[in-house]
Amino acid sequence: MARRCDQSIIPLRLAPRPRSKQQYHTIHRHPPAQVVIVSRNPSKAPEAAHVFERVQCDSLDRQALGAMFAAHAPYDILISSATGGARAMGPFMSMDIDGYKNSFAKLWGYANVAQLGVPHLAADGAVVLVSGAPARRPKAGQVALASVGASVEQLVRTLAPELAPRRINCVSPGMIDTPMFGPSCAEKTERLENATKANLVPRPGAPEEVADAIVFVATNRFVTGTTVDVDGGWLHKG
Ligand SMILES: NC(=O)c1ccc[n+]([C@@H]2O[C@H](COP(=O)([O-])OP(=O)(O)OC[C@H]3O[C@@H](n4cnc5c(N)ncnc54)[C@H](OP(=O)(O)O)[C@@H]3O)[C@@H](O)[C@H]2O)c1
Repeated sequence: MARRCDQSIIPLRLAPRPRSKQQYHTIHRHPPAQVVIVSRNPSKAPEAAHVFERVQCDSLDRQALGAMFAAHAPYDILISSATGGARAMGPFMSMDIDGYKNSFAKLWGYANVAQLGVPHLAADGAVVLVSGAPARRPKAGQVALASVGASVEQLVRTLAPELAPRRINCVSPGMIDTPMFGPSCAEKTERLENATKANLVPRPGAPEEVADAIVFVATNRFVTGTTVDVDGGWLHKG
């Protein structure tokens, strides 16, 4: 994936894990990257090919993040999908205002990654951030997800001209079967299936499907400042 200095920051859950020969080919058509995985507890990350190092770091800790970037520089690709922390859910009028404000930890984490990471990025490098389908089609109770996601997409649009010729893009997932919804069990499967049965693609997405889009925007040199939806048609359901 990375072309020259062969390093990138990639989040834990969205790392490509090919499930078929064909998908393996899609993911690996680019030269292998040396991947640095960063999170607050990277030991949770599954074994994956090309993992160069696992680093413990909180994206909200600017001092630690700056030191981590400097220690592992330079990079060709920076990817951040960190949620940042807990997000508030439910009706806005009864929402704890501190919970709403704290939901923006995701935006602050991405802002830190961009501001502290881009100086170490190759001149033709790329940044990828992750928003979410509620940014443009929120359901009731998703005011925090919607506000933060929309801010992330606007951050990307605004930074694109400033960072050029480096590129920055966003991927917007719909409902994806990840540990965000708890450990795998029949109840979780049923909950995700119910929540997605009205989508044009009536099932939850797989992390690998989001990872494919991340690889696409990270490596296509004619794409910048945009958001790619990987949501099974969430935006277009009736
Ligand atoms: N899953 C979905 O249905 C869905 C839908 C729309 C959008 N998204 C977006 O997709 C992205 C990935 O979601 P996911 O489903 O993979 O979530 P997840 O399973 O909860 O994983 C989130 C990851 O972020 C890391 N993280 C959280 N706060 C961090 C911080 N302050 N510093 C460093 N790392 C941090 C966590 O690792 P540690 O706990 O070890 O730090 C974890 O690896 C998120 O931005 C989410 O909002 C997901």
